[in-house]
Amino acid sequence: MAITYRKETCIFNIETRHTTYQMMADSHGVLLHLYYGPKADGDMDYILTGYDRGFSGSPYDLGNERTYSLDALPQEYPTEGTGDFRSPALIAESADGFRGCDLRYEGYEIFEGKYSLPELPAVYDGQETLKIRLADKAAGLEVELLYGTVEDLDIITRSVVITNRGEKKIHLLKALAANLDFVSGEFDIISFYGRHGMERNLQRRAAGHGEFRIGSRRGTSSHEYNPLLILADRNTTERTGKCLAMEFVYSGGFNASVETDQYNQTRMQMGLAEHDFDYPVAPGESFYVPEVIMSASSEGLGKLSQNLQECVRKHVIRGKWRDIVRPVLLNSWEGCYFSFDGAKIRQLAKNAADLGVDMLVLDDGWFGKRDDDNSGLGDWTANEKKLGGTVKKLSDDIHAMGLLFGIWFEPEMVNEDSDLYRAHPEWALEADGHRPVRSRNQLVLDFSRPEVVDHVYSQVRDIVAQGVDYLKWDYNRSIADVFSHGTKQQGRVLYDYILGLYRFLDRLTKEFPDLLIEGCSGGGGRFDAGMLYYTPQIWCSDNSDAIDRLRIQYGTSFGYPVSAVGAHVSAVPNEQCGRVTSLSVRGTVAMSGTFGYELDPAKLSDEEKAEIREQIGTRRRLAPLINDGLCYRLSDPFTDPVCAWSFVARDGAKAIVNAVTLENHCNNPVSYVVCAGLEAGARYRDAASGKVYPADGLMTVGIPVPNEMGEYRAYTWELEKV
Ligand code: GLA
Repeated sequence: MAITYRKETCIFNIETRHTTYQMMADSHGVLLHLYYGPKADGDMDYILTGYDRGFSGSPYDLGNERTYSLDALPQEYPTEGTGDFRSPALIAESADGFRGCDLRYEGYEIFEGKYSLPELPAVYDGQETLKIRLADKAAGLEVELLYGTVEDLDIITRSVVITNRGEKKIHLLKALAANLDFVSGEFDIISFYGRHGMERNLQRRAAGHGEFRIGSRRGTSSHEYNPLLILADRNTTERTGKCLAMEFVYSGGFNASVETDQYNQTRMQMGLAEHDFDYPVAPGESFYVPEVIMSASSEGLGKLSQNLQECVRKHVIRGKWRDIVRPVLLNSWEGCYFSFDGAKIRQLAKNAADLGVDMLVLDDGWFGKRDDDNSGLGDWTANEKKLGGTVKKLSDDIHAMGLLFGIWFEPEMVNEDSDLYRAHPEWALEADGHRPVRSRNQLVLDFSRPEVVDHVYSQVRDIVAQGVDYLKWDYNRSIADVFSHGTKQQGRVLYDYILGLYRFLDRLTKEFPDLLIEGCSGGGGRFDAGMLYYTPQIWCSDNSDAIDRLRIQYGTSFGYPVSAVGAHVSAVPNEQCGRVTSLSVRGTVAMSGTFGYELDPAKLSDEEKAEIREQIGTRRRLAPLINDGLCYRLSDPFTDPVCAWSFVARDGAKAIVNAVTLENHCNNPVSYVVCAGLEAGARYRDAASGKVYPADGLMTVGIPVPNEMGEYRAYTWELEKV
């Protein structure tokens, strides 16, 4: 049993392969957090101390006992109004406006298998579940804390179910899934910030007094901050030291923070954004807080990432495509944007087939009145004049060339210049008498309303049924006007919107189980584990420049597997930043993702075409190891002159080591790529040169990167154990 309850001490103990998690229902019925970290044998309640702390009050039932204060004790699920003045995990407002809530322990349940959450994405399998029931009887509130385990990956998931057991409606103003309190330790906080075209840059800074907070008030997880937060010991590196992570399985607004308190204790939290959140829960109803995945490692950030990558790859991503190497695609966007017709698309497909590509994806511009990005969203009927016939005809023609066929949608959006908006202006998120914020000249459809979801669904399904193998699901703005005409409770709209999105995707994946869906939001603006539950891959960034991509994909790798990272080779000079890189650099970078092309093959020279054919062959050969191998980051592209990373087979028999040079100087020092994960004592042969390397040398001194003239060069060593 990985989860146990020790009756004598009232301690709950959760074990994974290398970690222990402990909490205790104390003699006052308060659930205190005791420990989360490397495996620890024995009860950890000795960490609890009690001193008379001025200005830190005590629960009423303790009489005049002044040495017990929730302001100083490590708590499992802190709430507003208990005299703990740090950030609460839950704020529930009673019918008369009081926001205090005093949760005490009621009971527990342990069962085999992992819990699931109705209508919400979550890790879908695992070994065991622990449910701890807390209640504030006076407030009529019951809170169930849920814990799930994926033992071999050192994953513990957390979610919370809040039930109104009273007679009057309550309102949730804040609902987090996970809270961790540490009584000691000095930490660094690692977070992933960004912007459109430059997502998931890594920031590492010391935690200190005051609160460090990231989140999104955009109704979507956002380019700005990814819902992934890491807490590491100050001396933790890629391969050594302790660290732990929280990753949100949710695609809407979020909130994550780290706070060092007046007694030098640290609190880390993650859950729903408080912004525009005021969720009514009627008597008898329950509210489900989306799940947080946690993992802890004492072998540095690399191991922590591998745990999260594998958890997302095998326990969040589902369906037929989960384990399959994805088709090499050619996407029409950068090759022709909006200017195409049926003949041009068919020619694009023919040229793609000639290069050895598996699938043609027709991006934006094929539907309604849509020759630029100012109109047409919401009208998902084919522009047959432009396409030279129906979608079915186009799909048949492309299939006849031996290619799969994919198509772009942006189902959650509407342009004012569309038939849908003219018929149903009240279906947009927009308040009466208040002019909405336009973004890319579009408004957001009110997916909190089932009739809106149903309407768009029926249009999308009609197109998909015409022979579509792949769907790119885009989402190209943030939500600014949180106002639905379908409810009087505007504080529930953002959460209900995401439920509507998930319902749509759930229906689509069930009706079309073979359909491959790629998520997208102006590139990687909604790159989260919630979307990955429905869409096994996500376009990682609208920035297809290989050098910028090194940083973007590096940051992404902290929480997500390469099999989910949408990455393409595009033309040069790059459309987003004007940089020129070789096809070999672009190929090496895109291969560490789903792989494909985003260019017009008609503009390629014969040499380039030949190189691409060879590149696709290399990709097919390497893809199984890239997808299934363990991914190691071997340098930091934010600071090092070379960006290097590798994929190592789980049995250590093979490895691919990649390096891209970022800087070149006269009389350059030699850079060495220090490998990881190889079998100590073994020898590895490099396929291209035939050279045999000792693994111990590769993992200590490293492989010398050739000192060649020119900027941005890519090198790949295909190593095989001899
Ligand atoms: C977004 C996507 C792009 C492309 C365009 C089409 O920006 O990220 O890949 O699909 O929309 O309008």
